[in-house]
Amino acid sequence: MNRAKTTMAAAVLALGAWLGSSVSAAPSRPDTPIHYDAAQRIFRIDAGKVTYAFGVDHDGVLQTLYWGSRLAPDDPLGPATPPASRSSFDAIGSNTPQEYAGWGGPITVMPDLKVHFADGNRDLLLRYDSYKINNGNLQVTLRDLHADVTVVLNYTVDPATGIIGRSARIENHAKQTVTLDRVAAASWNLPPATDYSLRYLTGTWASEWHVRTRALTPGATDLESRRGSTGDENNPWFAIERGGDWNESHGHVWFGALAWSGSWSIHIDQDILSQVRVTGGFNPFDFSYRLEPGQSLDTPVFYAGYTDDGIGEASRLMHRFELTRILPAAPKPKLRPVLYNSWEATEFKVNDQDQQRLAEKAAKLGVERFVVDDGWFGARNSDHAGLGDWVVNREKFPNGLKPLIDKVHGLGMSFGLWVEPEMVNPDSDLYRQHPDWVLNFTGRQRSEGRHQLVLNLARDDVRDYVFNALDKLLKENDIQFLKWDYNRNWSEPGWPQLAPEDQQKVYVTYVQHLYDIMRRLRARHPGVEIESCSGGGARVDLGIMGLTDEVWPSDNTDPSDRLSIQDGFSYAYAPAVMMSWVTGSPNWVNKRSSSLDFRFLSSMQGGLGIGANIMEWTPAEDATARSYIEAYKGIRATVQLGRLYRLLSPQERAPYSATESVAADGNQAVLFAFLRQGQEAQAYPTIHLQGLDSAARYRYRLIHGKAAADTPAVASGAYWMHHGIDLGLRGDLDAAAVVFDRVRP
Ligand code: GLA
Repeated sequence: MNRAKTTMAAAVLALGAWLGSSVSAAPSRPDTPIHYDAAQRIFRIDAGKVTYAFGVDHDGVLQTLYWGSRLAPDDPLGPATPPASRSSFDAIGSNTPQEYAGWGGPITVMPDLKVHFADGNRDLLLRYDSYKINNGNLQVTLRDLHADVTVVLNYTVDPATGIIGRSARIENHAKQTVTLDRVAAASWNLPPATDYSLRYLTGTWASEWHVRTRALTPGATDLESRRGSTGDENNPWFAIERGGDWNESHGHVWFGALAWSGSWSIHIDQDILSQVRVTGGFNPFDFSYRLEPGQSLDTPVFYAGYTDDGIGEASRLMHRFELTRILPAAPKPKLRPVLYNSWEATEFKVNDQDQQRLAEKAAKLGVERFVVDDGWFGARNSDHAGLGDWVVNREKFPNGLKPLIDKVHGLGMSFGLWVEPEMVNPDSDLYRQHPDWVLNFTGRQRSEGRHQLVLNLARDDVRDYVFNALDKLLKENDIQFLKWDYNRNWSEPGWPQLAPEDQQKVYVTYVQHLYDIMRRLRARHPGVEIESCSGGGARVDLGIMGLTDEVWPSDNTDPSDRLSIQDGFSYAYAPAVMMSWVTGSPNWVNKRSSSLDFRFLSSMQGGLGIGANIMEWTPAEDATARSYIEAYKGIRATVQLGRLYRLLSPQERAPYSATESVAADGNQAVLFAFLRQGQEAQAYPTIHLQGLDSAARYRYRLIHGKAAADTPAVASGAYWMHHGIDLGLRGDLDAAAVVFDRVRP
């Protein structure tokens, strides 16, 4: 469509909107969070405590106008006008804070979309075409000025948290092939400023979820994964805070997360004019996606929100959003059952008899879900063989899994099983039959990781095999839970069966098929829950979270290291999905010894599990475990679904740390306090609670630890928040847990 046609379409649209029946849009009503002001050509979203606005300028370019604290409905926000040019070097496409920039015309910023056409043209000028508002969602269509290529921008809004979801659909209506070289879901423009800091998450195996901050200065920062999956080097989450005085409960924070479990990129750019732009979507590295005429591509969703109540509130908004909008059981996620997993007890040496004994013991401790980890299938006696052959090993389970499953159910527990469906060992029947099913480049080496190769899930036959194998497993066995593991990164990501120019579609199609398998399995087996695990926490993102009920943050179960790991995790993700196990001491990762009390209290910050060899526990240890498990059941709704306050940070190996969770109904608060290492004669800090009702009265009770002798049994919320509580932790690896129950007047 040319410029004249675009302008005419916009004029008709504006007239339609003014008459109350837009050509392509339902009239926006004042009670919906999304409004279109036809006179000013402004789109405005008001949700939670946030207002977000963008407009169409006289060239048809979409410009972000405002993103921040909620404004009054009649506050002026437009019209959108292109910035004045300062010199011949100014690229108008860059100086304008574009909602979604195509690479074409004068533009030097990182574009959202870069394409090349079959005829060699690489210019793309995206201009406003039309909009639709349907069921609280907004779609704005942009169209290239010359070729019939459209981009439909989707906006979803969560009225409770103000978190907005943005994605794009690229449609090729032209007569020639268009190849997408780079495709983002969205760009978020922040108000121009020079005092921003970026907070992000980084890590590696057994050391995930480190929180890092750095000042934003002119130049770019890339958070990304190029490994085919989410990864743990960075997590697809960011928070940008303004001014130097930000902390847990104060300060402006813009934050967001990508819902994608493949290679991803979040590119944060500040230019010399202080404009800050956060562009996220498919990782452009090694990316190429060819659209034939009539084809389209949908990007993942890039969610983002804003608060002026500090990073603590930003996390709570994310948690609430995940619980009410993302998780499969949203808006009412189920509480995590107390789980036992056999991995650290038996590793690959699983068999019917031993697992039954473990199950009996676990049930006596109060465990609610029993999970058999790796080793139950194929020729799986070590990590050298068997992956891909999802049939029960009859030497280990002569009568199949049924006797064990019946036993577990008879003991009142649900039954779960470990699977790693996307992988294959070269030493497996599957690989011997289908050596062409793995990611590979013809004639090149197939690099192994943990003696395994990655199945090319992008292939329809591989997708169908994986789906059918799991479907059969779930049909033939009464299983309630799958621990879905994924234990290596991609290498040699070729797809030799496709034309060379289509092979890089693997980055997109693989993940689409993974989601498709999980979606279909869940539909067919609605009673089955899934955990996302990737050698620890390397596949945690809002995409996988939409299809799984819980995630495994790290293979590192040392309860002291876990304090930082769990703290970092909580910046982006809810405790409701964070599984934490009590395992043996000394810990297998770092050989640190710790008391069973410390291990339980650390694990009770999330979904409690036990991964130790409980057959070795003494009667005294059994009794300790039983009492913690029982106590946990009384507080888990608060811990998993409540509002989390990070009171003292364990980051940077800090000696003291504390978290508090406040129940959704405000009737209970749970405090966990930890001391890694006492120093000299220093007293443990007084803990000041947060988020209580000042006027209400709360009675405290200890799950573990000791309060100072003068601690009142009952006091006001104001007292616990401002006077605080002294727990007197001492020595090394000491911990306390305190419950505050609201007293009925
Ligand atoms: C990965 C997981 C572990 C365990 C093993 C089994 O390492 O993170 O918890 O399941 O695989 O092989």
